[in-house]
Amino acid sequence: MACCRRKSRVVEVAMEQDLDPSLSSSRHLLSSILAIEPFHCVISHARAFGGGSITEQVQQFIWDHCLSTPGDFHAPYLKNFLKKLITQVELDHGYVLDNLYELYAHYMTSFKDDSLGKRDARICKRISFLFPEGCSELLSCPHSRVLVFSLQCSLNMLEGDTGCSIWPSSLFLSELILSHPELFSNKSCFEIGSGVGLVGLCLAHVKASKVILTDGDLSTLANMKFNLELNQLNVEANMPERSKDPNMVKCLYLPWESASESQLQDIMPDVILGADVIYDPVCLPHLVRVLATLLNQMNSSFCRQHASCKSLSPNIKHGNGEQNHEDAIDICNGRCKTIHNDGSSSMSKEVPIAYIAYVIRNIETFNYFLTLGEQANLDIVDLTDSLKPLNLLCYMQSYNQASVRLLRITSSNTQ
Ligand SMILES: C[S@@+](CC[C@H](N)C(=O)[O-])C[C@H]1O[C@@H](n2cnc3c(N)ncnc32)[C@H](O)[C@@H]1O
Repeated sequence: MACCRRKSRVVEVAMEQDLDPSLSSSRHLLSSILAIEPFHCVISHARAFGGGSITEQVQQFIWDHCLSTPGDFHAPYLKNFLKKLITQVELDHGYVLDNLYELYAHYMTSFKDDSLGKRDARICKRISFLFPEGCSELLSCPHSRVLVFSLQCSLNMLEGDTGCSIWPSSLFLSELILSHPELFSNKSCFEIGSGVGLVGLCLAHVKASKVILTDGDLSTLANMKFNLELNQLNVEANMPERSKDPNMVKCLYLPWESASESQLQDIMPDVILGADVIYDPVCLPHLVRVLATLLNQMNSSFCRQHASCKSLSPNIKHGNGEQNHEDAIDICNGRCKTIHNDGSSSMSKEVPIAYIAYVIRNIETFNYFLTLGEQANLDIVDLTDSLKPLNLLCYMQSYNQASVRLLRITSSNTQ
């Protein structure tokens, strides 16, 4: 677990470095190395930065920002990257900096055991969100226009029931949150199947009023908590009360199969998120039940807590003819408000919305999800073409934003 524990000099340099924003190719190169992108991707950024070849200036830039003080940067990755880099420069008949040869020779003798090949190895990826010019008005956009999160991940895609890797849909949801912070800030947000915790970091960054991350796998949950702390967030586990600490994120063990109605009804989020959670047909009935319970809360927990739900009219008569002294709930236009007996209304809450990002890998599984959703009275709308995030990860060739689709789900009982 200790691979990311010490704050890497690489990240410090990356965050401190005030790169000229017009030098986007250098930023892309640096971001791709920090994110441990595939070598062909990093090499192509290096070439783009050098105007077609990996010049001495490009090599010096890589040396200064990544290699001179590599800290705890994943040594086997750097070793293999150096090998590819040197090979490419030699193939171009270019000049290789002495520093690069010397460091490669050092790695050759020091790291014979290449842990990149070990399936259970952990690596620390630094995901940089690069905000384009003209975004400074966005609440999520830092002054430097670069937002970096460190995430410990597994090289084994299936470790932690798939939850110790970063999947494309969580990159997509992160871009969505950072592009449309108004949908999430000051809202109570709840994520299912949170994996490494990237979506939670973005929610905390845009100042969601509450962030609850959940997963049904204990090793994933431990890795998620590690990542939150790595990014200076405080983790609260299994404590029901609302915390006043704005940096507090709650992590819950929540397998969909065993999540009870009362457990879910206590949560009452405004927004529910899920990234790449539609893939296992065995789990889908449980997933849909969890979503339906969370989305249907206006008709259940909210009503129980705030008013009688026997009628939408404030002038409720009981069978004995007496006026109802309890208030009523009016659910319309996506909002819920308490209407008192005197006709005044005191509080209003928007009905919960779920945003689910997914990549269709098996159309039958996806159609099964839609069928189950319909049976559970869920309104499922495809927002892919109408709610697009900015492309903040354009340097990542391993991620294709267009491969991810976005669903908005509400309960038709609350329409
Ligand atoms: C494909 S991963 C996606 C992880 C993360 N959302 C992302 O996009 O990077 C699926 C996640 O759902 C969790 N998961 C799978 N089945 C689950 C279940 N039945 N109950 C709760 N969590 C589950 C896994 O542990 C894993 O973290």
